[in-house]
Amino acid sequence: MKKNIVILISGGGSNMAAIVRTAQQQDWEGRHGVRVAAVLSNRESAQGLEFARSQGIATQAIDHRAHATRESFDAALAAAIDAYEPALVVLAGFMRILTEGFVAHYAGRLVNIHPSLLPAFPGLHTHQRAIDAGCKVAGATVHQVTADLDAGPIVAQGVVPVLPGDTAEALAARVLAQEHAIYPPAVLGLLINP
Ligand code: GAR
Repeated sequence: MKKNIVILISGGGSNMAAIVRTAQQQDWEGRHGVRVAAVLSNRESAQGLEFARSQGIATQAIDHRAHATRESFDAALAAAIDAYEPALVVLAGFMRILTEGFVAHYAGRLVNIHPSLLPAFPGLHTHQRAIDAGCKVAGATVHQVTADLDAGPIVAQGVVPVLPGDTAEALAARVLAQEHAIYPPAVLGLLINP
């Protein structure tokens, strides 16, 4: 059976690119019937859209600023997503808070990556907060998305050291490399061992 992935991004899209490249290298389509069907963004300027297009993947930007309410934006986004009949919707640096209705519509097939070791440091500025708290390790968490922000069941985590003198930027780069290692296998695992 074919299983489509739809990836949502807002910016650089390096996690999306890691998933796309891993899917190509490991032939997810031939071996598992799994393909990245589309990459959608709330920003036309998201650099990741260009990479997706260069890989022959369908892209679409749905500008949240054109919608007066979160409900209206989420309805337009869901309509675009559902055109691809996704088995899994992957949030990869998608920086919008989603409505309860949207989350409920994708219950069990919506996954996110967050740049902290949840349940520590949900929300923003995770790296500076980990440094300020004196943490010796930091990392990233892949989790199912539920109505509570950054709080759904944990699927995978990756750990990196916090080094003496780390800035938020240095720690973010170390965590991001770890994100690229853990997100692709977590996505495939959710599709082939649901
Ligand atoms: C990643 O670090 C991701 O964990 C984070 O945004 C970055 C996106 O990078 N996501 C969040 O903070 C979600 N709350 P990317 O666009 O290069 O994948």
